[in-house]
Amino acid sequence: MVTELMQQGMTAVEEKLESVVASDIQLLEDASLHIVTSGGKRVRPRVVLLAYLAAGGQDLDSVIPMAAAVEMVHTATLVHDDINDHSLTRRGKVTVHARWGRTFALLTGDYLFTKVYELMAPYGVEPNVMIATACTRLVEGETLQAAAAKSGSMDRETYKQIISLKTASLFEASAKLGAWLAGGSPEIVEAMGTYAYNLGLTFQIVDDILDIIGDPEAMGKPVGLDLSQGRGVLSVAQNGGAGDEESVTAVAELEEPDPIKQMLAGLRNSGAVEIARLQAEETGSRARRALDKIPPSPARDELVNLIEAVLNRDH
Ligand code: IPE
Ligand code: IPE
Ligand code: MG
Repeated sequence: MVTELMQQGMTAVEEKLESVVASDIQLLEDASLHIVTSGGKRVRPRVVLLAYLAAGGQDLDSVIPMAAAVEMVHTATLVHDDINDHSLTRRGKVTVHARWGRTFALLTGDYLFTKVYELMAPYGVEPNVMIATACTRLVEGETLQAAAAKSGSMDRETYKQIISLKTASLFEASAKLGAWLAGGSPEIVEAMGTYAYNLGLTFQIVDDILDIIGDPEAMGKPVGLDLSQGRGVLSVAQNGGAGDEESVTAVAELEEPDPIKQMLAGLRNSGAVEIARLQAEETGSRARRALDKIPPSPARDELVNLIEAVLNRDH
């Protein structure tokens, strides 16, 4: 029952995402559709819908534009993030800036952000403040990350702050928005927020691990990029914050002439991946515990399953 509802809901979200980017300016529509229809995992809108259902929501149609808005925030940031990260592939396709150039990629990202206003306007003040707060944090996180990478000052504390701001905040908002729209009590909205915040941390740590050990084919984006640019959980190990730096260097020197591949090989052998994995499992458990405050339901079960799916994902 919940699976069927979710399938219908996610199809409606897809349709909304595609229809809302229509524009008389063909280039804007083409570039928007290029990224919007490129097959992202849609984790955040899924969280919005499941939180809505788990908090007792009955009218799934009402939550569709909200779920699309959250995915649109994410999509806009990917377009801009890929410019900043000089990344040429996203979701198995060429990035917007690689295909249309930086100017149009900036404008496409801007355009997608304006669609968030359009989608969110009908919901009134409170949810708009929630999503605005998440957007602010996201930009703060991306800025802090770029600044720390530039100055080589990434440490464990900074890394935690970055992933909390750039990723966990939008996950948190996703669940709170859904629960709020369902008429959930402040306690339920808060518990949902704690769940998704920790799910978001887990998601990002796993993403950073996959940047080291993942398959670029399955990921649909390059690996080693975050590390080479001084980002990600494992760049903390590079800076001596975790793992065994000596073994990193020793193994690296023996095996590989390419410096990026050298770092990757060294890190895989340093124990840093295992440390990050334990951190992901810890934040995953926190997400699980937060759900104890939500009444049992098939939708809540799906939220539990999502933690496992995030921990075990390979793309
Ligand atoms: C990528 O997010 C950015 C991170 C927060 C790691 P996703 O992995 O959700 O990207 P898509 O939407 O599935 O492409
Ligand atoms: C993507 O972050 C954008 C945000 C989370 C805001 P990352 O740079 O960590 O993710 P990928 O590796 O490009 O997908
Ligand atoms: Mg990136």
